[in-house]
Amino acid sequence: MNSTGPILDNLAALTEPVRCRILLLLERHELTVGELCSVLQLPQSTVSRHLKTLGEAGWVVSRRDGTSRYYYLPEGGEGSASPQLWNIVRAEIGETPAAGQDSKRLESTLSARRAKSEAFFASAAGEWDRLRAELFGKDFYSHSLLALLDPGWVVGDLGCGTGQVSALVAPFVEQVVAVDASSEMLGAARSRLRKHKNVVIRKGVLEKLPIDDGSLDVAAFMLVLHHLPDPVAALSEARRVLRPGGKLLIVDMYAHEREEYKQQMGHVWLGFSEDKMSKHLATSGFEPGAFHSIAPEADAKGPALFTTVAYKGVRGSKRQPRSQKVAELAKETA
Ligand SMILES: C[S@@+](CC[C@H](N)C(=O)[O-])C[C@H]1O[C@@H](n2cnc3c(N)ncnc32)[C@H](O)[C@@H]1O
Repeated sequence: MNSTGPILDNLAALTEPVRCRILLLLERHELTVGELCSVLQLPQSTVSRHLKTLGEAGWVVSRRDGTSRYYYLPEGGEGSASPQLWNIVRAEIGETPAAGQDSKRLESTLSARRAKSEAFFASAAGEWDRLRAELFGKDFYSHSLLALLDPGWVVGDLGCGTGQVSALVAPFVEQVVAVDASSEMLGAARSRLRKHKNVVIRKGVLEKLPIDDGSLDVAAFMLVLHHLPDPVAALSEARRVLRPGGKLLIVDMYAHEREEYKQQMGHVWLGFSEDKMSKHLATSGFEPGAFHSIAPEADAKGPALFTTVAYKGVRGSKRQPRSQKVAELAKETA
């Protein structure tokens, strides 16, 4: 850089038309030296020399990404470059035939970049599932779907056990009310849920929930109903505590023949057929929804699971505005 002052340094860097064409391109897209060479149809040494001049005057900056270096314009014309000066030059140079040609070749260069990633996916198609799990794990995408939950919901985790459902859902909703009858389970739930300030934990039975009428948007019985001698009593209670239009999520086992579970784990019911569960839901006043079987994980040893969502009244009816009750629950957790 010479010592004639910033405006003249800026001007000096722009006296060469190729440098202005480079700026026009980089304004639209960050590019590597190789990509600039193919757009400008110039040898690498020439492009590198111009980039050096532009870099020294503050017109371009670069970043490294793996083995490539990308050049781009600094945000808002910061550095020693002058946005006003560039506006004048851009208006002139942008209209030239050379700039028009550059613009077309830029499209092909960017398409070539896309083709490179398409080629990767074409060759990796068979490998992609393994690679995806290797890079990001097996569960990240099902967890990411939790962001679809309504952030204003109050959710009841009924028969919460050690609080796995509550822990999963709490970051995405307004409040979780976790209920269980077992002090030991609740002890484990308390330690798991300590960091989730929007979870209220309550001891109580599912046949007489310690929750006010109409205060939940969603209630969940996850692996719970097969333990209850009277599932309809618990379903009716869930309906009482849901708001009109509220949803009930059930996850449980399809009917199976593992009698030993009664002794080993206190199961009362050997799963439920869809027909049986639909009848229970209808008797409790719910509108049953579709049943979905849950694809078993490869190393899972238990019976197949289903999930279903049932509705209290009209499907999709609007949630009430944030109620006084939620404010009280918030105080309870504070
Ligand atoms: C198999 S665990 C499932 C726990 C949890 N939902 C999960 O998915 O990990 C069943 C839970 O229901 C609770 N439970 C069973 N009968 C209950 C009842 N009548 N009232 C309240 N909780 C009950 C048990 O204490 C236990 O924590």
